[in-house]
Amino acid sequence: MKTMWNFSGTRALVAGAGGIGTVVTQALADAGADVVVLDRDTEQLAKLSRTRTAEGFGAVNGLTADLTSADACRDAVAAAAELLGGIDVFVHAVGANDRRPVLETPDEVWERIVAINLSSGFWLGRAVGALMVPNGYGRIVYLSSVSGLLAHRDHAPYAATKGGINQLMRVMAREWASSGVTVNAVAPGYTETDLTRAYLAEPGMRASMEALVPSGRLGRPDDLVGPALFLASAEAAFVTGQVLYADGGRTLV
Ligand SMILES: NC(=O)c1ccc[n+]([C@@H]2O[C@H](COP(=O)([O-])OP(=O)(O)OC[C@H]3O[C@@H](n4cnc5c(N)ncnc54)[C@H](O)[C@@H]3O)[C@@H](O)[C@H]2O)c1
Repeated sequence: MKTMWNFSGTRALVAGAGGIGTVVTQALADAGADVVVLDRDTEQLAKLSRTRTAEGFGAVNGLTADLTSADACRDAVAAAAELLGGIDVFVHAVGANDRRPVLETPDEVWERIVAINLSSGFWLGRAVGALMVPNGYGRIVYLSSVSGLLAHRDHAPYAATKGGINQLMRVMAREWASSGVTVNAVAPGYTETDLTRAYLAEPGMRASMEALVPSGRLGRPDDLVGPALFLASAEAAFVTGQVLYADGGRTLV
């Protein structure tokens, strides 16, 4: 995807090779960044991999990792930093959801969603921040959600982790602002990816979800590229601690 930003010379780490992580990775590389992508899905990582081209498109390398433990996150950041020679940009785009009422949510579902959506954001962000702060430069972008603000039924662990990501992001932003490191979040509305596909296929679901969006449509992964690359760019130096809603107006109603 052609964008207005120039990321040549930028070393980027993207956690998550799903619908949104894929388009953000490709856009960063198309804008000249070298990118390492983390995911547990080795096949998806293989599809994304490419080498640097003479025209200035960046390389993409995948690293397979299950990001639900502190050690795995620490090791993944160390391996990515070694491959890239440092990390200037970090995008957290891993996530999972499990829709059921609070009273039907078992411990293991709560713990799994918290681990991948929130704890990985802390573990990866802390390891990346430890490289960026002494370096005096960094851009960190978390994928939050409209569920971090709205109280959607059947979304307790997901909503809690997205609210948690917003506050984690704000505290990191405050602690690291004087070191040239910005930390922000992009909060999408319903976007068509593997995360939402089965749910949207339920009878009547697509129409009822679209009816909630003032723009009259669901999001597409490409809708997140501009917001994420803006926050990841050098030009966004004075923007930190913000949640940028990219939701077609969903949170206005
Ligand atoms: N799609 C939406 O409607 C939507 C809306 C709001 C926010 N978001 C957020 O955007 C981010 C990206 O979502 P997406 O739509 O691309 O989802 P997706 O399901 O397409 O991709 C998620 C990726 O996370 C990876 N992953 C899951 N568990 C993992 C683990 N334990 N270790 C390593 N990788 C793991 C999956 O393999 C997958 O590639 C998530 O944080 C999600 O919550 C998505």
